[in-house]
Parts: sequence; C-alpha cells; structure tokens
Amino acid sequence: MDAIINDAIAYVKQVFANDYSGHDFFHTLRVYKMATRIAEEEGAYLLIVQLAALLHDVDDIKLSPATHDNKDRAVGFLREHGVSENEIALICEIISEVSFRGADSTAPRTIEGKCVQDADRLDAIGAIGIARTFAFGGNRNQTMYDPDVKPLLNMSESQYHNHVSTTLNHFYEKLFLLKDLLNTATAKEIAKRRDEYMQAFVTEFLAEWEGIL
Ligand code: ADP
Ligand code: NI
Repeated sequence: MDAIINDAIAYVKQVFANDYSGHDFFHTLRVYKMATRIAEEEGAYLLIVQLAALLHDVDDIKLSPATHDNKDRAVGFLREHGVSENEIALICEIISEVSFRGADSTAPRTIEGKCVQDADRLDAIGAIGIARTFAFGGNRNQTMYDPDVKPLLNMSESQYHNHVSTTLNHFYEKLFLLKDLLNTATAKEIAKRRDEYMQAFVTEFLAEWEGIL
C-alpha cells in the first residue's frame, strides 16, 4: 500500500475521533474499501479514487463548516504529501460532487468520481444504511416515526437540507432513491440486495407499528 494511503487512514482516524453522527472513521474506511473494489472492476485510477474516498468527509459542511468551501483540510493534507496541484483539483472536484442533494444531485464528471459517489451511497443503504440512519436520527433528536408526518418527494437541495422530517421518512426521501442514482454497473449490482433488505425492513417496521405482525 502507498505510504500516502496509510497516512490518510491515520489522518481520518484522528479527524473523526469524536463523531457520532454517522460520519465516523469506520464510514470513511468502508467507503475507501468499497470505492477500491468498484474502481478495480471499472478500471479507474486507483490512487485518485482512494484519496478522494478517504478525504471525502473531512470538510463536510456539518462536521467542519469553516473549511467546507475551500476544502482546507483535504487540500492541506494533499499538499503536505506532495500531491500535484492538478491532482488536488481533481480530488476536490470529486469530493464536491459526492453528496446527495435531493433532486439537485449531480452525477460526477469522471469515472473516479463515479466510483467514490457510488461507494458513499452504498454505505447509506442495506443493513449498515439502516443502522446509520437511526444513529443519525438519534444524534439529531429526530422522531423515529410519526404516521402524520408524510415524506416529501422530489425535494430541491435547499428543501432537502432544511426540511424537518422523521427517520422513517428518510427512507422514502433518500435511501430508496439511491439505487437508481448509482453510476457504475458494479455498484448497481451490489445495491440490489441491500435495497431489498431495506425495503423488507420498512415493511416489517410498519406492520409491527400497526400490530399486524
Ligand atoms: P452523505 O452526504 O455522505 O450521503 P449525510 O451527511 O447526508 O451523508 O448522512 C450521513 C448518514 O446519515 C447517512 O447514512 C444518511 O442516510 C443519514 N441521514 C442523513 N440525513 C438524515 C435524516 N434526516 N434522517 C436520518 N438519517 C439521515
Ligand atoms: Ni460519506
């Protein structure tokens, strides 16, 4: 493994040491591993994919609002490690394209960006996705479920960020949409099982809620 990758892993471990919002170190590590797997299958440039995956959340707007716009943490790390300015620009582009923004979400320009975005999205679905969503909801004091609060579909980026909802609605507002927003054939295949598992979970949850099961 490249020394820079080892250093990046150590760096993110320190950055996310106290995060309980679903953006913890292990999320980043899973995205890194999944992005590597997708990149190998899709023939993308591995080092760019791996660095972008490892650094994709260090300047997240919720975690580090002051460095979000210029990605100071990611850029600082990459400059310290002698990465060229061209490659830094490419990695920053990938990081800025990665996030889900409701109906305003964009598909990344490069295959490397597509791999990282797919890996991040795969980590939001399936068993891990369910766990992260309830962890996030608890962290935000969000209601788990309220039958009177209906999910809002086709939200714009600002609606998506400002609207108050329930954790169960998040499945309809984001998680069930992700399988159709993936870029690569590799990720689409992996998503099938994860999506089915999540659909079954919500069906079961609602049936138990009603006392049917
Ligand atoms: P990313 O930008 O990396 O997709 P987010 O910061 O949007 O991630 O979310 C982190 C985790 O928390 C994800 O698993 C996501 O689905 C979940 N999450 C985000 N918003 C909500 C919400 N309003 N309610 C419950 N879970 C959420
Ligand atoms: Ni992420």
